[in-house]
Amino acid sequence: MNAVEIAKGVYSVGVIDWNIRDFHGYSVENGSTYNAFLIVDEKVVLIDTVKKGFEDQLLANIAQVIDPKKIDIMISNHTEMDHSGSLPRIMHAIGEDKPLYCSKMGQKNLSEHFKQPWKYHAVENGETLDIGSRSLTFLETRMLHWPDSMFTYCKEDKILFSSDAFGQHYAGFELFDDVVGHTIMSHAKKYFANILMLYTAKILKVLEQVRESGLEIDMICPDHGIIWRKEPEKIIAAYDKWSRQAGEKKAIVVYDTMWHSTQKMAEAIASGIAAEGVFAKPVHIRSSHRSDIMTEVLDAKAVVVGSPTLNNNIFPTVSDVLTYMKGLKPKNKIGAAFGSYGWSGESVKLIRAELEAMKFDMMASDLRVQYVPDDAGLESCVAFGREIGRAVNKALE
Ligand code: FEO
Repeated sequence: MNAVEIAKGVYSVGVIDWNIRDFHGYSVENGSTYNAFLIVDEKVVLIDTVKKGFEDQLLANIAQVIDPKKIDIMISNHTEMDHSGSLPRIMHAIGEDKPLYCSKMGQKNLSEHFKQPWKYHAVENGETLDIGSRSLTFLETRMLHWPDSMFTYCKEDKILFSSDAFGQHYAGFELFDDVVGHTIMSHAKKYFANILMLYTAKILKVLEQVRESGLEIDMICPDHGIIWRKEPEKIIAAYDKWSRQAGEKKAIVVYDTMWHSTQKMAEAIASGIAAEGVFAKPVHIRSSHRSDIMTEVLDAKAVVVGSPTLNNNIFPTVSDVLTYMKGLKPKNKIGAAFGSYGWSGESVKLIRAELEAMKFDMMASDLRVQYVPDDAGLESCVAFGREIGRAVNKALE
C-alpha cells in the first residue's frame, strides 16, 4: 500500500498484511491491515506504527510524503504489538529524542515492553496538542479494548483516529467505505464480536460521551481495515446496536458430534426452533472457526450448545468454544444444553453449568438422548426446539 492523502495534509501510511490467517486465535480469512496516519502541519505527527516485520514498508510509505526524520511527534493510541511492534525502529528513524505521546497506561505498557528511555508525554483525557493549523485532542478510552487505549481527534479535519474501535480485519486496496461497499459490515461485525464484545458497557458510555460532546465526525480512521468517510454514522449506529445485545429472532445450535447422534439432535432441534418462526442455524464446530461462531452468537437471542459425552466430559472442541465464548461475555441470551451419550452422559450438565456461569437465561430442562436418536428421540428434539423458539418469541415481544 502506498501513502494516500485522505484529507489535505493527512496521509494513510499503513501496510497490508495479505497473508495473515490467524490473529491470536481469530480467523482472518481476508488478511488485515495495520494502519498508521501521518499529519503534515507546522509539526509533523505520526499516529501509531505497524506490526514488527512491516517497518520497512511503513518507512517507505512515510518517505513518499516526507523524510521520516522530519516527524516531530509520535503518538501511540494503542500499545498492542500489531501497532507498536515497529516502534523501536520508527523511533530510531525519526530520532529517539522526539516526544512520544500516549496515555498514562500507554507509557507504562511501552516502558515495560520495550525498556527504552524514550521521551514520553503521558496525556490527560481531553488534553489538546497544537500542531500548527490543527489541534489534536486525546480521548481516553480505557478498556476499549486495552487499559492504554485512546482516541486522537482532529477538530479542524473532523477526523477521529480511533485505534482498534470501528476496525475490521480486511486486506484490500479499497481504502474507504464508499469504495469497498456494504460487504465490509460483515468484517466489522466479526471484529466487534471477537475483539470488543466483552466491553459493550464501555462502548455505550463512549458513544454517549461522543454524542453529548457534540464531536463532529466526518471521518473515522481505525487501525485496521477501511476508513469510514462516507457514512461514519453507519458504523457508529452498528456499534450502538451491537453493544446493546438485544438479540434478534435468531437461535444458533452449536455442537460437535462423534458418530452423528448429536448432529441429528442439533438439526432436529434447529428445525423445531424454525417451526416457531425463529431463524435457526445448526453450527458444527469442526466445520466452523470459533471466531465465526462468535459472530453468530453476537445477534442470536438463543444459544443452544450440544456435545456427546467423551471420557465423562464435554467433547474438547465444545469446551474450546465455551471457554472462548465465556471470555467474550455475551449478554441477554437464552441458553439450552443437549447431547447424546452412551452410558454416563455428563456432558449436558457440564454445558449447563458453563452457560449458567455466563448468566444465560436457561431453559428449564436440558435434553439427552442415549446412543442414536430414533423417531421418538428426534420428535423430542423437535419439541425441545419448539420450546426454545417460543422462548425467543416471548423474550422479544
Ligand atoms: Fe489491533 Fe488491540 O490491536
